[in-house]
Amino acid sequence: MTDGSDGRVIGIIAAAGSGERMGGVQKAFQLLLGREMVAYSLQVMEESEEIDSVMLVVPSDAVDTATRLCLEMRFNKVGSISKGGRTRRESVESAVRSIDGSDLIIVHDGARPCITTELITRGVEMARETGAAIPVVPAQDTIKEIAPDGKVVTTPDRSRLFAAQTPQVFQGALLRRAHYETSPDLVLDDASLIEALGLPVHTFEGDPANIKVTTPIDLAFAEAVLRQRGMTEPTYPGQWA
Ligand code: CTP
Ligand code: MG
Repeated sequence: MTDGSDGRVIGIIAAAGSGERMGGVQKAFQLLLGREMVAYSLQVMEESEEIDSVMLVVPSDAVDTATRLCLEMRFNKVGSISKGGRTRRESVESAVRSIDGSDLIIVHDGARPCITTELITRGVEMARETGAAIPVVPAQDTIKEIAPDGKVVTTPDRSRLFAAQTPQVFQGALLRRAHYETSPDLVLDDASLIEALGLPVHTFEGDPANIKVTTPIDLAFAEAVLRQRGMTEPTYPGQWA
């Protein structure tokens, strides 16, 4: 093929944050029902028929821990475990730059353990057609824009507001171009890099349960979601369900 695509689908899990809002812990390795948070995303990517290989990006002092976890849990699709950068953008970009082929790239936050194979499939189908597809959920609260002095500036029409989630799915060549050609100061999600190129980003229905675990209260919510899906605490190391 001439466009650099080779029919492979690669998942990138960004798990290299420093978890400041969680109290400065390595969020990816916080336990949920007795398993490291990032293990849930790894397991779903392992189960997804769409994904050929997985790149895991973690803090520099967690590469050994992550390697042991992947061996113990037999996450056989994991092809690389590398250290991230100062920002999420840098962490994802380091992985994206090391990919030279691939059909599609799926970028996912390690802090979203409630991802499902259905979300991946939906994203892959839409990205194959459109180039860039992200899951969104309607804003629940009325959102206010607030000035530095604390006063409300404006209340945007809620029916047009959505929260973006991951997995975000892109044609590989497009995502590489977005990382190469946009300012490194742009540190929002990957979709925003495509937007910055003036190219369309399509949306599909996200999952309200697919929250980003950000503060300690989110751990309880994520555990409740996982329990509802039938997960229980492991009774021996490496046990999945
Ligand atoms: N992330 C990353 N590299 C960074 C920063 C963030 O890979 N330098 C990842 C996080 O590990 C997480 C995802 O991006 O899976 C979303 O980021 P966020 O929820 O903000 O996590 P943290 O940056 O760890 O948390 P905080 O902002 O509270 O420090
Ligand atoms: Mg962060």
